[in-house]
Amino acid sequence: MIHPNSEIQEFDITIIGSTGNLSITKILPALLKRYVDGQIPENSRVFCLARQKLNDSEFINLLKKNTPKNTGGSSSLIKKFLSKIKYYCIDITNPNKENLLSFQKCLNDDNKIRLFYFATAPELFGSSANFIKSNNFVNKKTRIIVEKPIGNNLPSAIKINTILNKYFKEAQIYRIDHYLGKETVQNLMAMRFANQIFETHWNNNSISNIQITVSEEIGIEGRETYYDTYGAIKDMVQNHILQLVCLVAMEPPSKLDADLVRNEKLKILQSMQNIERLEDFSIGQYGSEIKINGAKINSYLKDSKNHLSTTESFAAFKININNWRWKGVPFFVRTGKKLRKRVSEIVVTFKPVKHFIFDQSIEKQIKPNQLIIRLQPNEGLKLLLMSKEPGPGGIRIAPSFLNLSFSDTFKKRIPDAYERLLMDVVRGNQTLFISKDEVEAAWNWIDPIVKLIKENNFKPEIYKPGSWGPKSSNELIEKNGFKWYEPVLD
Ligand code: BG6
Repeated sequence: MIHPNSEIQEFDITIIGSTGNLSITKILPALLKRYVDGQIPENSRVFCLARQKLNDSEFINLLKKNTPKNTGGSSSLIKKFLSKIKYYCIDITNPNKENLLSFQKCLNDDNKIRLFYFATAPELFGSSANFIKSNNFVNKKTRIIVEKPIGNNLPSAIKINTILNKYFKEAQIYRIDHYLGKETVQNLMAMRFANQIFETHWNNNSISNIQITVSEEIGIEGRETYYDTYGAIKDMVQNHILQLVCLVAMEPPSKLDADLVRNEKLKILQSMQNIERLEDFSIGQYGSEIKINGAKINSYLKDSKNHLSTTESFAAFKININNWRWKGVPFFVRTGKKLRKRVSEIVVTFKPVKHFIFDQSIEKQIKPNQLIIRLQPNEGLKLLLMSKEPGPGGIRIAPSFLNLSFSDTFKKRIPDAYERLLMDVVRGNQTLFISKDEVEAAWNWIDPIVKLIKENNFKPEIYKPGSWGPKSSNELIEKNGFKWYEPVLD
């Protein structure tokens, strides 16, 4: 049963670059799942464009071979969805006239929502926009969807935004950061703004530090050309990590409105103190070929096929936010590949109690309260509290956890980020998409760091695959008087 609020209007979506990884493993499976759940109206259609010479059934076979298997839904429903897909062999920079004409004939309803997903390299965003505009594919309900990376520094991001804005209004452009589509990331807003108990303590009076960890077990898996020019700072920090910082740190908007939310996030990006010292961050690269559980793990140099690469596969930062609420509360963030475990967590550590009334001998057992927000896997919340250990013989205090698992509590499948985000585009809701100003403000903070690394010839420190990153990341946090929260490996 779909909640009436989730109903959406019928739409056509065209995926440009439809044979690529993003389309095959994320966009099309997400559409399929929404269809299987009964959310996509029957008259909606999916047009897939790419350069490869394929017919519809060859494209469907490619999709079946590479798509994740856990879609759910009966085979007849899946078949029905697949029958909605039409493939067109079209090179958007030089389209074959006949194929273009038959695609053109399909886009005949001016009142239907018309989405174009640019699932291409950013170098092709301009050509994609031009293709749509010059062939008159834009109707009054056209929206375009683009993915990161939006540039690889501020000037290139401005260039991409300028091209997109030349053809489309900002209200038609949906810039995806898939972390914003993750259920628990959205839950951050619910947790902060639908509960009084957290928000009253959500500031430098009560909080001592905030940590964000996004660690991955995977390496660069066939993306060596892209990854080696980007690295962890541009691939993960510039977008996903900074978006998490924004959601944790932003002021409450007066209502859940796209512009209001995005403006509050923008203010955080603009309040982040520039990193000017090498001591305020750590970069690493996974090293020596070792065996984990009998399997050989390559070093980054081997994976990247660039034996001289100094690209970082790990980055950690101490971020200061210079505003009234957060002055004096460091945000420690870290992300990396080939780490111990795939886990994303936000850990909010509160200040110690103001006055200790119990026996001095147990003071050392007291830990500050911690709120642990698990974004993935096993999404949930944990609150570390101090309690009396049961039993006679005086008061002994011990840590205990209030534990909330979202899947146990709500007994629902947690949808993939793309499912939610794609339906939001159809609804015309930009709240979970990044504005042009946010993209540019994020690069404005990242660019000086990249410059600092280059000017100082600062090399990443080698770390062991399967560890939590380089030693310098521990030193970064320890010299500030804290320790990384070690995620529980469940
Ligand atoms: C992508 C990065 O944006 O996010 C990848 O380009 C990274 O390098 C991925 O692996 C992580 O996403 P998730 O959803 O698996 O945490």
